[in-house]
Amino acid sequence: MASASTAADISEAKITPIVIISCILASSGGLMFGYEVGISGGVTAMPGFLKKFYPDVYASTQKLKTNSNYCRFNNQGLQLFTSLLYLAALVSTFFASYTTKRLGRRLTMLIAGIFFIVGTVLNASFQELSMVIIGRIFLGCGVGFANQAVPLFLSEIAPTRIRGGLNILFQLNVTVGILFATLVNYGAAKIKGGWGWRVSLGLAGVPALLLTLGSLVVVDTPNSLIQRGKLDEGRAVLKRIRGTENVEAEFSEILEASSAAKEIKHPFKNLLKWKNRPPLVIAIAMQIFQQFTGMNAILFYAPILFATMGFGNNASLYAAVILGAVNVLATIVSIFLVDKVGRRMLLLEAGIQMLLSQLVIGIVLAFKVKDHSNNLSYGLAIVVVVMVCTFVSAFAWSWGPLGWLIPSETFPLETRSAGQSVTVCMNMLCCFLIGQVFLLMLCSMKYGVFLFFSAWVLVMSLFVLFLVPETKNVPIEEMTERVWKQHWFWKRYKDDYEGGRVK
Ligand code: BGC
Repeated sequence: MASASTAADISEAKITPIVIISCILASSGGLMFGYEVGISGGVTAMPGFLKKFYPDVYASTQKLKTNSNYCRFNNQGLQLFTSLLYLAALVSTFFASYTTKRLGRRLTMLIAGIFFIVGTVLNASFQELSMVIIGRIFLGCGVGFANQAVPLFLSEIAPTRIRGGLNILFQLNVTVGILFATLVNYGAAKIKGGWGWRVSLGLAGVPALLLTLGSLVVVDTPNSLIQRGKLDEGRAVLKRIRGTENVEAEFSEILEASSAAKEIKHPFKNLLKWKNRPPLVIAIAMQIFQQFTGMNAILFYAPILFATMGFGNNASLYAAVILGAVNVLATIVSIFLVDKVGRRMLLLEAGIQMLLSQLVIGIVLAFKVKDHSNNLSYGLAIVVVVMVCTFVSAFAWSWGPLGWLIPSETFPLETRSAGQSVTVCMNMLCCFLIGQVFLLMLCSMKYGVFLFFSAWVLVMSLFVLFLVPETKNVPIEEMTERVWKQHWFWKRYKDDYEGGRVK
């Protein structure tokens, strides 16, 4: 389609304050997600929390001498506390797909904010385990709605040349949320009387409020307005956010994408069509791979993991705070690099860095940590922390942000909401699986878990090398022409001859 005129429009598109502010506000959805990822590891290691809700686990943490170090936190009920949220997010994202399409990105973010507020109130004020569980379900729905709407919002509202950077604001907020949660846990664990976990769970209200208020202030994306038939408003918003009157080419491109989208009666069925395979396969693979880097295994259970490696309680929380800070800083690096060096370069470099650091951690632990003792020497403990930081920084400038960015920018408008649902759903499913089985794996595979994840890193890097196309600087509604139809492998799904299958 009108590539030449769109290119002219794009160079005129300014980086307007309204775009920057909208993106900052919307991306606070990531803050909430990050806070939930970061908070549960610390809470489930707090004696006050364990004593109240999981007395068996508490008893087992007290019997260090008789219980394998690798296994002392292994309890399915406890893992469920962490992973239930992801299960709720997984289911709710399909409802969120409907609302993003019908009500728009902005209202979907508002719904997410409300879910978060209700979940937080339930969580912080409960006396019964059943209330925690219900609170976690509400929070999970919030995550499902927010992770559905925010990445789409960011990718659609951003001017092409800084789309990657702006989209990564979501991930930056995720990492800030994780760090904030870790700091809160660090302080809350020190509260006398064993009720610090209540503070940890209750402070989720801060990001929840930010998202709710933020979504009341932002404008919806032109793509979403046009898709819902609000053409004049869509054009007006486009002019405002691009800071120029010359938006006709981009407008008609979105309009064309939107009429194609209107033809689609069953978005999920449509997603399965032959021609939609490339972004679908990439989105699903990116989510599986993102989670199988092992990042969440490290993050969810960082304090537990460090304790297992023989760090004292305080040192473990402290090391987790360092990880959180590295995660934030490296994400900022990604914001600046993603639209310059491109997505593939970041993923490939990080693959090497993650592979090596995991191998070193696995090997050090294999030689040094014996089941029944805390005998990691000071020097080796430092090596492990440095390697974990090396791993986290690599994840933070690659799979962390790009796992969300690439799917949100590669689906055509007609399948974008449905595609994003599948993305969120796969992400949450894998998060859930890892959350649920990691402690079991740690208990049975011991240091081998790191070798397990490093094998995955190898596979995903090969996948990137051969199958992930570069999407840097390509306008979002031109992906089919400029990316998929040009790719050595994926072009067969887009050729006019459609392999005899339904177009
Ligand atoms: C992932 C989360 C992860 C976080 C860590 C996100 O992109 O989806 O699962 O916890 O990055 O920074």
